[in-house]
Amino acid sequence: MFFRQFASRESSLSYFFGCAGHAKAVAVDVVAGDEDWFVEEARKAAVDIRYVIDTHVHADHYSGGRALAQRVGAPYCLHESNAGRVKFDFQPLGDGEILDVGNVKVKVLHTPGHTPDSVCLLVTDQRRGEAPWFVLTGDTLFVGAAGRPDLAGREAEMAGVLYDSLHAKLLPLPDALEIFPGHQAGSVCGAGLSGKPSSTLGFEKRWNPALTMDRAAFIDDLTRAIPPRPAEMDAMVRANLGLAD
Ligand SMILES: [Fe+2]
Repeated sequence: MFFRQFASRESSLSYFFGCAGHAKAVAVDVVAGDEDWFVEEARKAAVDIRYVIDTHVHADHYSGGRALAQRVGAPYCLHESNAGRVKFDFQPLGDGEILDVGNVKVKVLHTPGHTPDSVCLLVTDQRRGEAPWFVLTGDTLFVGAAGRPDLAGREAEMAGVLYDSLHAKLLPLPDALEIFPGHQAGSVCGAGLSGKPSSTLGFEKRWNPALTMDRAAFIDDLTRAIPPRPAEMDAMVRANLGLAD
């Protein structure tokens, strides 16, 4: 397989990976303005972009996912809970669904909490082994921190949902699993993020404070001093939902 991590604006991390042998690729969490980079990487690797995925409807940047998908003729994928919420056609992703990218398989894990529609993407390279090799965690789990509940007014409830997602969906996975998050240090989407843009699940279980707290302490920590949503966040969400078209 091939794999690229792209450090974009606002400390966002995007991903481009796939199966060179079958010439199929996936683009994840594309930031608006970065579409050319993905098209160029696909050209250099001689692959077709088969899926463009956003791990959730973002509130901190304008997504370039829809534009890239239209440009390359690939489906734009979001969690299925966005049906009726977004004002454009998309390919709905269900929990447990597996996307076929040649020798690379991408399993969708619905991990609500940061937002109700958040997913993580568990990736296996069948040429290397049957076990998943890495997981793209979006804003659910960062290196050194957890995502922040993004819904104004329901922070405590969503922090509890996030705790349950982390403990039910991610922590039971193998310690050797690599983690690639949606942001690194400098992002407004979480507090205490590391400047190192990847980790392993085993290291995070041992050293990430968000993963060693009990549920009550986790909710208390995550909801303490949540900064107010800047006005531009609402415009970004509206655009990413297709309400500004
Ligand atoms: Fe986010």
